[in-house]
Amino acid sequence: MRLKQFKNYEELSDFAATDIADAIKNKPSLVLCLASGDTPKLTVDLLVKKIKEEKINYSKITFIGLDEWVGLPPTNTGSCHYFFQNKLIGPLQLKPSQYFLFDALAADLQNDCKKMDQFINDKNGIDIMLVGIGMNGHIGFNEPGTSFNSLSHVIELDEITRSVGQKYFNEQVELGKGITIGFKHLLNTKKVFLMANGSKKAELIKKTVEGPVTESFPASIMQKHNNGFVIVDEEACMVKSFH
Ligand code: PGA
Repeated sequence: MRLKQFKNYEELSDFAATDIADAIKNKPSLVLCLASGDTPKLTVDLLVKKIKEEKINYSKITFIGLDEWVGLPPTNTGSCHYFFQNKLIGPLQLKPSQYFLFDALAADLQNDCKKMDQFINDKNGIDIMLVGIGMNGHIGFNEPGTSFNSLSHVIELDEITRSVGQKYFNEQVELGKGITIGFKHLLNTKKVFLMANGSKKAELIKKTVEGPVTESFPASIMQKHNNGFVIVDEEACMVKSFH
């Protein structure tokens, strides 16, 4: 794992978007997994902009959504589905065969997890994953205590995730469970970016890169990834040894 620091959120996002755009140029059949949320917002916008402006051929890429709030319809503006539909799938007009998002309304969520695992296997794994970090150190909905060996699964959300998660919604919603890609997929992904910006993430990033590798602090899994990059802006970085 390596830590890279950028001056501000714009430079950080531009770095990630450029890296992904270049990866699509080098491998048109790239399999990309993205998190939704505030952190990757600008990266996704810049990526779509670059793809269009540079006329990058993205007809063969595959996109995978990292996670979803269980029980929310895709029309809910706070859902991950809505985020990706509006920011990526819609603007690029991806074909249904080109992407897989969890179905948060599925009657059989376990089966949806199996479908996701199968989809990833059929694509021969994920090439690039871009994730954020939650205020409890989670990645996706891999909450503290999640096995580093997990496949896709449904999980009871922890208290911090439920309360912080309200920021995505216009009105109060009941957030109970999440459905998420597991850590086995993250470890098998060829290149992983964990992105963070702002001072509220600084302590979490310090723990991610310098703390013990433990399932009780999920983001510490980044230390186990040979091609993992923790990418941050100045405000999120107080790791002196890397300055
Ligand atoms: P955020 O969410 O990007 O909105 O801060 C991060 C996360 O919970 O993974």
